[in-house]
Formats: sequence, C-alpha cells, structure tokens
Amino acid sequence: MKSICLIGFMGSGKTTIGRRIAEELKVSLIDTDEEIVRWKQASIPTIFEQEGEHSFRQYEKQILQSMPKENAVIATGGGIVEDAENRKALKENFYVVHLNPTFDVINSRLLHDSTRPLWKQKSEDKRNLYDKRMDHYLDCADISISIQNESIEETIRKIISSIKRG
Ligand code: S3P
Repeated sequence: MKSICLIGFMGSGKTTIGRRIAEELKVSLIDTDEEIVRWKQASIPTIFEQEGEHSFRQYEKQILQSMPKENAVIATGGGIVEDAENRKALKENFYVVHLNPTFDVINSRLLHDSTRPLWKQKSEDKRNLYDKRMDHYLDCADISISIQNESIEETIRKIISSIKRG
C-alpha cells in the first residue's frame, strides 16, 4: 500500500484522524511534527523562538524526505505545502488526503490554543494564511474532504472508502 499523507491547515484533525486511519489499516502513524521534536529534542514553539521558522521548515523538509513511501499513515504540519519541493514530493510519492474544514471550524477548535506559533497572529493574518495555503493543499491532494458538521466517524469512513477506491 502506498503511504497515505494527511495534509491540511492547523487544527484540521490530521493527527487524530490519522491515528484512527492507521488503526483501521493496521499500519503505523508517523507525525512529522513529533519526529522533528524527537530529533531536535525541542518543542515546536522553542524551535520557532530560538532558530526561527526557516530552520523549522528545513527540518520539516528533511523529515518528509525520510518518510516511508509504503505502509504508513503520515500526519504532516499545516505548513508543509509552503515549499515547492515538498509539494512535488507529496504528489509523487504518497496518496494525499486533504482535510478541509472551514476557517470558522478551525477558529472554534483553536480558540484557546497557545501551542502553535503561527496561530498567535492577528485574526486577519490567520485568515490570509488559510486562503493562501488552500490552493497548495488542493494542488497536492488526491482527495479533499470538506469538514463542517460531520462526525469524526463519518470523515474516517469517507477517507477509507476513497483509499479503497484507489
Ligand atoms: C504549522 C503547523 C503545525 C506545526 C507548526 C507550523 C503551520 O502543525 O507544524 O506549528 O505552519 O501551519 P499542525 O498543522 O499539526 O498544527
């Protein structure tokens, strides 16, 4: 089985849904953010603060390049699509599932979040980031799953049946 890569904006549920899909398919879940934290022995806010976003993006790119192309579910960070080489690698090597909640859904999920450096910006800047990234997500995705009021179960069912169709 080609590895499945979950992409989408912060708070779109990539890790939670990825874990469930990995269980269903009986393969492992790898989270690129967790891999970076383990490798660098530092939290993401610390990496952003001490080394800057640019370094974080370099680490993210290296981690993506090291991901297994078969038999895994990979949950990525929301900004992975910012880099053109990452987009190319996603399209060439993985079955890419875009989790696509509306901005309002994300806003309500991340209302009290303080763990994501790029969620600390002004509301207008977050909205612009969401809009700017949307084209990249859609460009990379084999399938884009809209998320508004659906349950997690429903979203998982949609993804599994799309994977089975191929
Ligand atoms: C980021 C998203 C985060 C994490 C980092 C940067 C982004 O991951 O990689 O804070 O640029 O959108 P999640 O999408 O899992 O929140």
